[in-house]
Amino acid sequence: MALNPADVKIAEFTLIANMMLTLPASPGMNFYGPVAATGSSVDDFRLGNMVFGKHPNLKKFGALAQYTVADASVCCHAPPSLDPIQAPGLGTAALTAYQCIVPFVSAGCNVFINGGSGGRICEELGADAVIDYRIYDVTKSLVDEGQVYDLVVDNVGSPLDLYKKSHPYMKPAGRYIQIASATFSQNINSAKNYLLPSFLGGGKRRFQFLICKTSRKDMEKVAVMAEHGEFFVVVEDVFQFSDAVKAIQRLKTGRAKGKIIIKVLEGFGAIAIGD
Ligand SMILES: NC(=O)c1ccc[n+]([C@@H]2O[C@H](COP(=O)([O-])OP(=O)(O)OC[C@H]3O[C@@H](n4cnc5c(N)ncnc54)[C@H](OP(=O)(O)O)[C@@H]3O)[C@@H](O)[C@H]2O)c1
Repeated sequence: MALNPADVKIAEFTLIANMMLTLPASPGMNFYGPVAATGSSVDDFRLGNMVFGKHPNLKKFGALAQYTVADASVCCHAPPSLDPIQAPGLGTAALTAYQCIVPFVSAGCNVFINGGSGGRICEELGADAVIDYRIYDVTKSLVDEGQVYDLVVDNVGSPLDLYKKSHPYMKPAGRYIQIASATFSQNINSAKNYLLPSFLGGGKRRFQFLICKTSRKDMEKVAVMAEHGEFFVVVEDVFQFSDAVKAIQRLKTGRAKGKIIIKVLEGFGAIAIGD
């Protein structure tokens, strides 16, 4: 399975989630492994098929377990060529990346990703330019470039003026997609970005929150792209099940440069697919 920040956020911070998910419960949205059982009306998965997928966020018993029960609608056949270490990362990370970029771009579009998990990796992956947020004022650096971008994907929610001052660096028809904001002030700022019209001092480009949809259709597209080498999952580290706490501690640093994978059972967790 692969960890995601939401696995921890739900357990630690979300009052409503804590009211809905009574203990005992176990985290983990993303899974990969062999099918160990199927419901009577499941006809597109067979025992032993390798599948990956994404549980909904609020699932009582998640993927950090030797066995997990998943609905058929959130499972996808894993291409045989898929690297088993990368496969669990396809659930949330790849699906989110797919859903916040692919529908909104065409050839020649310029995309800025805020929080691209480390400049060096991004350059290796083909980014034209990177901005080190620890050294430079990200908003100012972008404004200095002029109206260049068709799409901005904000994975961080910081700096706080990034959206408000986006019109100088985004094309007029550009779209700003926010997928995350962590701190209280970032959450308030994101709400303002969404609610405040431009004539009252809000941003001047199209703003949208995006929550990853668990879509089997999109997972199948992502699987094909992975099979064809159109992208790969960057893996930060692989932990054994017995070291799950260490894996979660690593995730909580907020400094991971890729997916944190946990091997459950001897290899990967087994999946029972319900109707
Ligand atoms: N909306 C959705 O459906 C959805 C889906 C998936 C994830 N998310 C959210 O998206 C966020 C990112 O997820 P993730 O899995 O990538 O988390 P993550 O693995 O914890 O992200 C860590 C990365 O963020 C970078 N970072 C931290 N602070 C930054 C800053 N101020 N500016 C630029 N980069 C910064 C870090 O780079 P450095 O080490 O260089 O600092 C690190 O590489 C999380 O809040 C997560 O909950 C939302």
